[in-house]
Amino acid sequence: MEKNLLILAGDGIGPEVMDQVVRVIDWFNNNKKLNFTIEEDLVGGVAYDSHGQPLSDKTLEKAKNCDAVLLGAVGGPKYDGLDFSLKPERGLLRLRKELDLFANLRPAQCFDALTHFSSLRPEIISGLDIMIVREATSGIYFGEPRGIIEDNNGGRIGINTNRYTTEEIRRVTRSAFELARKRQNRVCSMEKANVMESGVLWREEVTLLHQQEYPDVELSHMYADAGAMELVRLPKQFDVIVTDNLFGDLLSDCAAMLTGSLGMLPSATLGKIRENGRPYAMYEPVHGSAPDIAGKGMANPTACILSFAMALRYSFDLGDEALLLERAIEKVLAKGIRTADLMQEKDVKPASTEEMGTAIINHLDGHQ
Ligand code: IPM
Ligand code: MG
Repeated sequence: MEKNLLILAGDGIGPEVMDQVVRVIDWFNNNKKLNFTIEEDLVGGVAYDSHGQPLSDKTLEKAKNCDAVLLGAVGGPKYDGLDFSLKPERGLLRLRKELDLFANLRPAQCFDALTHFSSLRPEIISGLDIMIVREATSGIYFGEPRGIIEDNNGGRIGINTNRYTTEEIRRVTRSAFELARKRQNRVCSMEKANVMESGVLWREEVTLLHQQEYPDVELSHMYADAGAMELVRLPKQFDVIVTDNLFGDLLSDCAAMLTGSLGMLPSATLGKIRENGRPYAMYEPVHGSAPDIAGKGMANPTACILSFAMALRYSFDLGDEALLLERAIEKVLAKGIRTADLMQEKDVKPASTEEMGTAIINHLDGHQ
């Protein structure tokens, strides 16, 4: 079966890191006969520059029809002054919403060779392997009413609404339980049931689904603020964390930084499974567009390449190939080949974006 990828490299370092992903895809096509076809299009600021919108309807259609979207990064200072609805980030949010990509999987994994990059002690984070499952199509990001209105005293009121339905909670929680069964079989759900009704409902629905369908999985609950604290205090206590859109945004940044290297972290955002067995899906690195280093050929392509590994696993059921790629990256890091973001000694020359890509491909070549 053909495998169609839509590449939306986006802004900043997006295009340069994505170039290395394309080389990796070519490698898999040539050496593993995987039949990936690639189409490229625009998202974010570059899409705004050419069509006046951060995601055109035509691009959205392509995203709905391909097997998986690979996204680089969106945003940059050039677009700071734009109206809210035209900002590069809206392109990303529209993709999540329109493809109904409700389960945002954000692994926080610590590579052995990089333990000393964390601001925490090595023994606290070595071997860390957490999966955050963040709800990504609802909650306060999309809830109505929203807006800025005038009050009666000449002032203004800013409004956002955190809103979750039973079904929205159940489907993302189901993803978390399913993932846990393939890992350490533990899920911790985080909300603020002590102050928010949406949190009360969240906790009740998670508990109910657990009793009904996943009693074999170990379930715990934490208030999200305590969860943030525990993530930093003793992160290895967690296996899978499931949480809402906003808490997931915050907690996943926190978890990401435990590993000390944002340039290493991939993500997958998955929707419902289609008739051909493949889910609606988008894969993207957790790091942003990094405008300060864009165009310099020094960005770390690893997070973007690891996102493609997640695509192999979650869209195409190619777990062995995903592992092959992840191992290659681990080995390259262990050899000390690093981009500038992962260097400490100033006298060693860091690898460029392209050299990092080459090192990974060379390793693949040697270990087919
Ligand atoms: C993320 C980002 C996005 C979010 C922005 C870019 C809209 O922070 O993917 O975590 O807030 O979801
Ligand atoms: Mg974020």
